Amino acid sequence: MKNKSLIEGGILVLNLGGNLAQYYAKKIRKMNVFSSILYAGKANINEINQFKPNGILICGEINHIEDITIAEDIFSLDIPVLALGDAMLVMCKALGGKVENKSFKGDKLIDVAVEKSLLLKDINSFTAYFDCNGVASEVPASFVVTANCEGHPCAIENTQKKLFGCKFQLTKNETQYTDSIIKNFLFDICNCSRDWVAEKFMLRSIDLLKEAIGDGHVLLGLSGGVDSAVVAALLYKAIGERLHCVFVDHGFMRKGEPELVKKVFTDSFPVSLTCVDAGKRFMDKLEGVSDAEQKRKIIGAEFISVFLEEAKKIGKLDHFAQGTIYPDVIESGAGSGGELIKSHHNVGGLPELLGFNSLIEPLRWLFKPEVRLLGTALGLPSHLVDRQPFPGPGIAIRCLGAPTFERVEMVRLSDAILREEVEKFGLKYMADQYFTVLTGVRSVGIHEGKRSYFEAIAIRAVKTDDFMTAENIYYPKELLDIVSRRILSEVPCVSRVLLDISPKPPASIEWE
Ligand code: XMP
Repeated sequence: MKNKSLIEGGILVLNLGGNLAQYYAKKIRKMNVFSSILYAGKANINEINQFKPNGILICGEINHIEDITIAEDIFSLDIPVLALGDAMLVMCKALGGKVENKSFKGDKLIDVAVEKSLLLKDINSFTAYFDCNGVASEVPASFVVTANCEGHPCAIENTQKKLFGCKFQLTKNETQYTDSIIKNFLFDICNCSRDWVAEKFMLRSIDLLKEAIGDGHVLLGLSGGVDSAVVAALLYKAIGERLHCVFVDHGFMRKGEPELVKKVFTDSFPVSLTCVDAGKRFMDKLEGVSDAEQKRKIIGAEFISVFLEEAKKIGKLDHFAQGTIYPDVIESGAGSGGELIKSHHNVGGLPELLGFNSLIEPLRWLFKPEVRLLGTALGLPSHLVDRQPFPGPGIAIRCLGAPTFERVEMVRLSDAILREEVEKFGLKYMADQYFTVLTGVRSVGIHEGKRSYFEAIAIRAVKTDDFMTAENIYYPKELLDIVSRRILSEVPCVSRVLLDISPKPPASIEWE
């Protein structure tokens, strides 16, 4: 296992455009096979070979097939290829077939009659959405058509060269055979092994980190979030007390969180930990500041000053560690890149200010659910690993208007009540993110028999896959009643509790 690359083998997903690539990469990883993503237009053969893939899956959405440039030698690498949707047309065209811009109006539900096929093994006929952005009017020589739809080829294959194409969509409402088709490709055609499991990734990463860091010292900012906690636990296993963590408590964490982070990284993973209780310092800077962007900027700048001051006190450090995860790497357009450690230029932010020229990113190949699995494999407690996302500026941006200690405490207390009751109802995983917001709106009420003019608190709960869009979650009425009553009686100066039922878009998840 030692020295084996983390990213060898598995399936390389080549993305023609859009966000289907992440869908397939995640699906493949759920089947315990490693997958990575490259932009098809940019990927060259050397880069592809770095991954030593067992198979290549090409997918994505395109407007015009003429716009697509893809290294055509991909189809002669002697690596199995599955070209999905528009990619089937790209493959047809590249291999001498003919493609017509014929289009149906919208997607259609169509019966697909499957003939003898390696890819569609054991599937007889089924209903799928046929992708209607053009058809293959002539398939390349040596290909057979394994499924048709209204007279047009919608699945083709050349079993000798192990090239396969499907024009029907595997994502939209998922055909009942989506998983079978992907599994046939992974295990029967590409001979992938099911070795993408958290324990193996953990052991391999620890080996690679030990090797790369040698006897060096590493600095890591612990934020209280899942990603940095998992990086800390992983690095602790690799280099022990040569990992130096700085935890800046800006005073805007949720109830119990600073204590939890300190406890875990003192008791179970005793890293060298510097905790800075900087609440007063942050609050002083925010006095009278009510503009959302201003608040964010002030908190960000102050965080950097505090972190720099503390890091400089630690002394000689060799590497800077960060909890970058795979979606950030994909979105930044980075290619295959290095593995866990890379030298960086002009990345901006803390590592540069501290004069580091090497960055350790042990999670750069992981999607969020995998980070959580790794955290569990490392032995981090579930309330840290399963923690919902939390913004860097913390509850300061859930406290509309100028924050004060009292107002921030109102958010903290109401958020703790909501979390406690949701957990009591066994609904912790019903929403992907749920919290309370101090809206800044005042309204008339009655307090101790007299007229009051207190603030309104809103409850926000959303379901989302990627946090780019989100739907409302509707908790049971009984739960909402209890939360509302508790907030009104236990949180000072609140006269009203509201329910935020705004999907994203147009609303964002956070209020600021
Ligand atoms: P929005 O409000 O943009 O939030 O719909 C999308 C997701 O991002 C989180 N978020 C942040 N996370 N630093 C972070 O680390 C931030 O400044 C920040 N702002 C928003 C938000 O909680 C949601 O999960």
